[in-house]
Amino acid sequence: MLLRRGGNLKSSEITPELLYVNRRQFIRSTSFAGLGLAYEFLLPEFLSGQDRWPRGRKGPFDTDEDPNSYKDITTYNNFYEFGVDKSDPAENSAAFRPKPWTVRVEGEVKKPATYNLEDLVKPYRLEDRIYRMRCVEGWSMVIPWRGFPLADLIRKVEPTSRAKFVAFETLFRPEEMPGQKRSVLQWPYVEGLRMDEALNPLTLLAVGLYGKDLANQNGAPMRLVVPWKYGFKGIKSIVKIRFVQSQPPTTWNISAPEEYGFYSNVNPEVDHPRWSQKSERRIGEFFRRKTLMFNGYADQVASMYSGMDLKRNF
Ligand code: MTE
Repeated sequence: MLLRRGGNLKSSEITPELLYVNRRQFIRSTSFAGLGLAYEFLLPEFLSGQDRWPRGRKGPFDTDEDPNSYKDITTYNNFYEFGVDKSDPAENSAAFRPKPWTVRVEGEVKKPATYNLEDLVKPYRLEDRIYRMRCVEGWSMVIPWRGFPLADLIRKVEPTSRAKFVAFETLFRPEEMPGQKRSVLQWPYVEGLRMDEALNPLTLLAVGLYGKDLANQNGAPMRLVVPWKYGFKGIKSIVKIRFVQSQPPTTWNISAPEEYGFYSNVNPEVDHPRWSQKSERRIGEFFRRKTLMFNGYADQVASMYSGMDLKRNF
């Protein structure tokens, strides 16, 4: 995707797209208004997946926008461990085994530990949250994640006062991640957040989407979700969480430091050196839409950056 250069998912694992296609979107896209009306009023509710999702009331963190279909979210991916094309992660990740899984929590913490994933997740109440997600390449999606705030885990492991950043690492297992046999990026993939960003209530450790366990191509079994930052900050298939004193290295910054900074906040005012960031294409839509400051999450996150030069700290 971003490079300066020139096992298959079983069909039974993919929910039929119709179940997730949004009703209004369907009506808008059909040229036969009558057909749209029939769909709206006559077809049974069970055909309209969006009406069943999410269950319950809209939560305080949810966007009102329509989620993308499960099919879009699981077939249009960036996960270079499985190849560099958008279709590669779904096509090449069937042999990847996200169970059993352990996560090492270490560094500047009072309670370092190696957790089985189940034990790590068990104490927390999983929430469904519908987030806008914006990729640095200029496309976006709306994704109904399931997960828990990273802050909950941080409080449990009790960072020391020296912990200023959190560093994350993806699994390195080239036998199951064929992309790791090529040096398109430095492996393992690494990412990081400043401590206040990691503690922000929007920051999730996601273990599912659309109410199901994460598909391999979306970062099974656990990945980071930081909706006000470009998508590459959302490191997938995490095996290590390390609390550190200074800003940790990050994969895309190592790969192209002049193009990808540590912060990578969505910012329509700061262009990528090779393209504008003022607008984006929502997957499934035709016209581009304006990109919002902090991807629309300014109310919740802007104060963390007050006084910072966001052009320098891109
Ligand atoms: N994590 C790892 N380990 N490897 C990757 O290549 N790609 C990133 C991010 N996390 C990536 C990763 C990028 S560029 C994006 S846009 C998002 O994952 C895409 O997440 P999605 O495929 O679930 O939408």
